[in-house]
Amino acid sequence: MFESVDIRNKKIVIRVDFNVPLDSSFNVTDDTRIRAAIPTILDLYDRGAKIILLSHLGRPLKDLADDGGFKPKYSLKNIVKTLSDDLGKDVVFISTPVTDDGIRGEIEHTGDSRIILLENTRFYKGEEKGDPELAQKMASLGDYYVNDAFGTAHREHASTATIARYFDKDHKSFGFLMDKEVSNISKVLDDIQRPFCAILGGAKVSDKIKLIENLLDKADKIIIGGGMAFTFIKAKGGHIGKSLCEEDKLDLANDLLARASEKGVEFLLPVDAKVSETFSDEGLFVTRPIDDIPDGWMGLDIGEASISLFEEAILSSRMILWNGPMGVFEFSNFAHGTFEIASALAKATQNGAFTLIGGGDSVAAISKAGLEDAVSFVSTGGGAMLEMIEGKILPGVAAMQE
Ligand code: 3PG
Ligand code: MG
Repeated sequence: MFESVDIRNKKIVIRVDFNVPLDSSFNVTDDTRIRAAIPTILDLYDRGAKIILLSHLGRPLKDLADDGGFKPKYSLKNIVKTLSDDLGKDVVFISTPVTDDGIRGEIEHTGDSRIILLENTRFYKGEEKGDPELAQKMASLGDYYVNDAFGTAHREHASTATIARYFDKDHKSFGFLMDKEVSNISKVLDDIQRPFCAILGGAKVSDKIKLIENLLDKADKIIIGGGMAFTFIKAKGGHIGKSLCEEDKLDLANDLLARASEKGVEFLLPVDAKVSETFSDEGLFVTRPIDDIPDGWMGLDIGEASISLFEEAILSSRMILWNGPMGVFEFSNFAHGTFEIASALAKATQNGAFTLIGGGDSVAAISKAGLEDAVSFVSTGGGAMLEMIEGKILPGVAAMQE
């Protein structure tokens, strides 16, 4: 970032993705995304710049308080302490809107503190519309602009995309996180090591259609787990009880299976499931063949035979992508499949495979298993990573290259 220029006393607007989970007292419960942005912030800070951080938090305009105002849980003030602890530096929070000229004086007069956090970018109606007037106001606060918000790079918003127009190429740059994300995810698109195995889980096929379609041209094996597997099993004529199923996607599921076989892509579905009569951690559960689940029972995790099948496919691959859990891993009775996949990925990495993980649930699982450092790369983007693998150009990336 701006290696050849003296950035001492320059103001640098950095768009980060501090959209982190909070508990009911508004404490940060997972600071992964904050920690991921620290190297960029500290590099510029250590070189003498004044840092102005912009981020969104949640979707405040879609969840207004009864009086029409913003709910306190959406204020970025909630993350100041965590950010300051993670940086080991003071952070000044300024709640004055960027549309108010008074903000300039406040930014000038922060004393020795040179790291400033502004209020939620989604408090402005223009943010999600990519409004140029708003973007120009944000841009005018800095001499330079850095985009390190990979998690939000799939949104064409004022602070993620439009703002970049107001800086020429010598005055804007990706941050270190953005660079790392784009180069690691690009590997599964442009630098495929074979066999390449993609593992997809989660509840719905409908969320992953484009992803599966694009992977049919790239992967050697596709493993499907989680709730979405049952739509495929039912499409093939299996009996799935009351397991999750998208009835309107049965034809599509058959079509994807047929296309996989035409293209010679191995399509692996679970062969057994842990099933329960209730969607809870309390009920009795047993293992059943995946296509023979009794009426009134639902599959909530993959079984041991599926774990072995998937593990073998993973350990014989040289590149592995994982998005989405294998079961309802929030329930301890049904977390085993997801954790076994996490440890298979760690083993594969140790054997020299490139392993990439993204998406809130799989990232939570890998960190719960303590294996974040045992895989090649954990993305901070769920939606952004998926859209990139779907083959889309991310607006937050494109805007920096214009
Ligand atoms: C995310 O967590 O998905 C990103 O921060 C983007 O947020 P959004 O999905 O609300 O646009
Ligand atoms: Mg999202």
